[in-house]
Formats: sequence, C-alpha cells, structure tokens
Amino acid sequence: MMNVSHPQNGFTNTLIELAPGIDLYPQFFELQAQKTLVDLVRDIVRQAPLFQPTMPKTGKAFSVKMSNCGSLGWVADKTGYRYQANHPTTAKPWPPIPQMLDDVWTKLTSNEAGKAQACLINYYDPSAKMGLHQDRDEQNLQAPVVSISLGDDCRFRIGGLTRSGPTQSLTLHSGDVLVLGGENRLAFHGVERIYPGTSTLLSAPGRINLTLRRVTG
Ligand code: SIN
Ligand code: FE2
Repeated sequence: MMNVSHPQNGFTNTLIELAPGIDLYPQFFELQAQKTLVDLVRDIVRQAPLFQPTMPKTGKAFSVKMSNCGSLGWVADKTGYRYQANHPTTAKPWPPIPQMLDDVWTKLTSNEAGKAQACLINYYDPSAKMGLHQDRDEQNLQAPVVSISLGDDCRFRIGGLTRSGPTQSLTLHSGDVLVLGGENRLAFHGVERIYPGTSTLLSAPGRINLTLRRVTG
C-alpha cells in the first residue's frame, strides 16, 4: 500500500494506491456532502424504485437491491447482465445523473474517459453481500469505475485479474471513493459483509454504493 498525492488535477484529497490503477480516496466526501448524496439518491429512487436483480442462469435473487440513474442502467435478470435505457419494471427512462456525481467523475477520471453514462445504485441491507466478480459488461473497458460508499461500513475484498489470485480485504467507510482503472480495471472484487450500526447517515442500518461508469466507447 502506498500513500500518494494526486499527480494531475492538483486537488488535495489523499489517495491510497491499493494496486496499480486502484485508488482509494478515504473520506472524499465530508458528512454534509454525504447527506446531500443520500437526498439525491432518495429522489432518484422515488422516480426509479429499487428493483430485485436475479442471477441469469439460476434466477436466484441478489441480496442487493438496485436502481440506476443516467442514460443507461445496469440490470440483471434471467436473460443476462446488460445496460439498458429503461427501468426493468416501470419501463421509464432512468433519471439523469445529478451534477454532483458528474463532478466527481470529472474530477477523478481523465478527459479521454468521456462523461459518465451510468450510475448504479446498490442498496445493501445489513445481511446483503456481493460475491467476487469483475465489472465487464461495459463496451468501454478503458474508462475507470468510480465507486462511492454511503452509510454503514463494509468489508470489501479486492484481488487481481483472476478469480483464484491473491486478494486483500479492507473496510470501506461512508464517504470513501474507490476508483478501479488502468491495468486493474477488471480486478475481481466483492462485498463480504456489512457492519450494521457503524454509521448513522441512513435512517436505518444498511449501506448504499454508487458506481459511476462509462459504458460505450
Ligand atoms: C459492485 O461491485 O457493484 C459494488 C461494490 C460495492 O458495493 O462497494
Ligand atoms: Fe462490481
């Protein structure tokens, strides 16, 4: 692990390089900004309710509930994992990505990445988790994934480019931002457990994760 300051944009947020291309920005968002983000998420979820994704082959339900904002949203059902412009149950277009999230993307990615097109909203109740996986449903694997944690802490596991390779685990806290890019854009990662009651940001125990992505080239 290495502590470095950001080489390009000149902003002062501390970053910890967990591996080449995998940068953790602890407490990127202060409490007030976290509250604003939660309000924005509530507003989005009112328009685009959380849905229950299922595993493509087995039809088994994820323990995580999801929604999206952006021109494209990630969905999972019997027919597969994909991005689509409309909510799977209401069929409405996803609400737009709020300016505040666009700004985070712009701050933490290079110009070549283009604008964020999708923001997946994951809601973890205290018993939810997410198995080790790669984010590889995007046509564009050049642009990084920018991941924001809100609410209760979680134990996050991150490895390399093979499922069986070595992994490290770390605690993600409310306000932390993790960027997966460069040579480790396809690193395996997952959420092993939520630590309920470690944050009072949300009105009930649980965790929200927001992942911003560029989908097309
Ligand atoms: C994900 O990999 O989609 C979610 C990661 C997280 O919840 O931190
Ligand atoms: Fe992921």
